[in-house]
Amino acid sequence: VIMYKVTVVGSGNWGSVAAKLIASNTLRLNSFHDEVRMWVFEEKLPSGEKLTDVINKTNENVKYLPGIKLGKNVVADPDLENAVKDANMLVFVTPHQFMEGICKRLAGKIRPDAEGISLIKGMEVKKEGPCMISTLISKRLGINCSVLMGANIANEIAMEKFSEATVGYSKNKEAAERWVQLFRTPYFIVTDVQDVEGVELCGTLKNVVAIAAGFVDGLEMGNNTKAAIMRIGLNEMMVFSKMLFPSVKESTYFESCGVADLITTCLGGRNRKVGEAYARYGGKRSFDELEAELLNGQKLQGVLTALEVHEVLSDRGCVHMFPLFSAVHAISAGRLPPSAIVEISNEKPRYT
Ligand code: NAD
Ligand code: 13P
Repeated sequence: VIMYKVTVVGSGNWGSVAAKLIASNTLRLNSFHDEVRMWVFEEKLPSGEKLTDVINKTNENVKYLPGIKLGKNVVADPDLENAVKDANMLVFVTPHQFMEGICKRLAGKIRPDAEGISLIKGMEVKKEGPCMISTLISKRLGINCSVLMGANIANEIAMEKFSEATVGYSKNKEAAERWVQLFRTPYFIVTDVQDVEGVELCGTLKNVVAIAAGFVDGLEMGNNTKAAIMRIGLNEMMVFSKMLFPSVKESTYFESCGVADLITTCLGGRNRKVGEAYARYGGKRSFDELEAELLNGQKLQGVLTALEVHEVLSDRGCVHMFPLFSAVHAISAGRLPPSAIVEISNEKPRYT
């Protein structure tokens, strides 16, 4: 019988909650080793102590998830290679901009029989075109990689409030079922669907819409405007996904990773929060500055994703078909004022 050993690559806000969820299940289920390794991007705390040492001493990620016990079987490890070397289940959960570098460091250092899953919302854009993070992982590390996305504001799941998530897989149904087992708890319901691209694009693109929702909040435009932005955004998400991957299923948008994640992120996420502040300051303070001030080391994905989406659209000559995505990019790049979010053109993309 194979015993599964899990390592979580990443230890931010969601990374820490993922480790907590997983650790509760590895203790309970016989096919998994109890210990869950969690790779920590090491940093010094204001006290002078190392974050890893404090996590291992207090069982809490005092910087990214204060006040929550992770479970005694979570072991923080600042050494990336050491953290992954024995694992045959690798959970990737870092801000997407760091994954290229992490994959380079991990190539050839992991078990060849490992399976991966990405909880990362984002994509890379290369000369050859867009590359989803699960594809980057899969290609660079030579492993199969599923994804888990959903309406999952980490702090709420940390408090064990009921929510749902979606595992997307391409071929390996058995691996997907193992991931479901590893993540699901009575308060965290996980469903698997055979549409890895659709699930991952939902999680990635909703961050752009959430920045727009933040602008609407900062401009104090009310609920109807925000709902309109969410509807237009959902439409653009669907058109963009179909354009990249015609195989994407419409039903995926009705899973947790689709409409539900769009709603929760536009109501309570970090992208929304920083977008709101940006609009309140009339675009006079940069996103980088506001992110540092408001998020204490946590990272936004939406601004960079808006740029990446824009690169893909420019390359394909279809910027005009995506007025909302394009406005978010132009506003966040300082080329248009935040109020331009409601001056988007009437040319509607059509989901077919
Ligand atoms: P985070 O934004 O809370 O934390 C940032 C992390 O990046 C920290 O662990 C920090 O140590 C690390 N870091 C900083 N510089 C680094 C570097 N140069 N190299 C590597 N790591 C570095 O992280 P998070 O919330 O766990 O987000 C990770 C992914 O999960 C993102 O794609 C996000 O969209 C997604 N996600 C987040 C939530 C949420 O509610 N937080 C929910 C669902 C999905
Ligand atoms: P934010 O990164 O905007 O907080 O979104 C979190 C998320 O992805 C919820 O599912």
